[in-house]
Amino acid sequence: MLVEPNGVIGILGGGQLGRMLALAAARLGLRAHIYTPEENSPAADVAHAVTIGSYADAAKLAAFGEVVNVVTYEFENVPAETVDILAAHHAPTAPGARALGVAQDRLIEKEFVNSIGAGTAPFHPVDDLASLEAGLRKIGRPAILKTRRLGYDGKGQTSIAAAETDLPHTWEEANKKAWAEIGARPSILEGFIDFSMEISIIAARGRDGEIRCYDAPQNIHQGGILRRSIVPALAAADAVADAKAIAARMLTDLDYVGVIGVEFFILKSGGVLVNEFAPRVHNSGHWTADACAVSQFEQHIRAVAGWPLGDPARHSDCVMENLIGDEVERWRDLSREPQTCVHLYGKLETLPGRKMGHVTRLMKKSS
Ligand SMILES: Nc1ncnc2c1ncn2[C@@H]1O[C@H](COP(=O)(O)OP(=O)(O)O)[C@@H](O)[C@H]1O
Ligand SMILES: [Mg+2]
Repeated sequence: MLVEPNGVIGILGGGQLGRMLALAAARLGLRAHIYTPEENSPAADVAHAVTIGSYADAAKLAAFGEVVNVVTYEFENVPAETVDILAAHHAPTAPGARALGVAQDRLIEKEFVNSIGAGTAPFHPVDDLASLEAGLRKIGRPAILKTRRLGYDGKGQTSIAAAETDLPHTWEEANKKAWAEIGARPSILEGFIDFSMEISIIAARGRDGEIRCYDAPQNIHQGGILRRSIVPALAAADAVADAKAIAARMLTDLDYVGVIGVEFFILKSGGVLVNEFAPRVHNSGHWTADACAVSQFEQHIRAVAGWPLGDPARHSDCVMENLIGDEVERWRDLSREPQTCVHLYGKLETLPGRKMGHVTRLMKKSS
């Protein structure tokens, strides 16, 4: 499979990740065709072609499949049926259906990570109050209850406190409240990890099986949303090497093509646990657009188009900061700062908690 210049990359999803993928594709002389249910999407603004349709619209998907050379996605909750319809129209997706299916369900994801010999937080499947109680007896408190599917930016999760004295409730009431808070949906209970640091590995696997990794950022979250990524992470070299090796095992086992973002907890003991992975380009890799010759977006397009992977080396240290909600109003001041790369996503409506843009501040390379 090789998509040559002037070929068309189909992208499912119209958000900012699709926008940055489309821009990277354009620089390589490739054309992005966006498929999204949303009018006025950030990606549509910069794309060669756009289809507005639902992920269940078989006729629109078939027409889209006929005019693109390959399909990828910027949104990991694309339904499995969408991928099946596209495959029936000679438009297989990369990454493939297995990676998508594993990443969409936190329970299957953790079982997969454990199956390749990597650690996760202790977990227990929760389908009702009885299994929540059983999970809490097994894992203990504090803990986090997360929906198995569709969570993002800290949504679809609630924390379970360490001690009853923290709560104006009995245990039983507290459990009922947590279960109601996540919408009484199939869930997973996770032990709370008292980590020393969160890092991520942004890595790519090409169609020939070659794997390349970017340097690891340290990720600071606030309220479940990524606040900033600091590059390089000031983590022990062994922990970063372990995380890279785990990401590489995941890519190989999933027979993956494209960029993956794997989130890790580094423990105080120095060990690493996988938190979750995204089968797509990742917010904690946005800095690669400004601090590397080949960004995660270009790397992803290269991989799915069957091109050689690019050099992920970093030429600068940097800090990437998300502009969330009305922080986007800071664009005027930010655009005056030296060595600061401003990225705005063109979203028409500013909402609290919505990612509206980001900035990368470049610094001299230290190591
Ligand atoms: N088991 C855990 N222990 C400690 N902190 C956690 C745990 N799970 C999640 N968190 C914190 O919440 C953030 C968001 O959770 P995550 O599972 O990555 O969901 P999302 O899909 O919303 O990114 C994590 O980056 C981390 O800071
Ligand atoms: Mg996460």
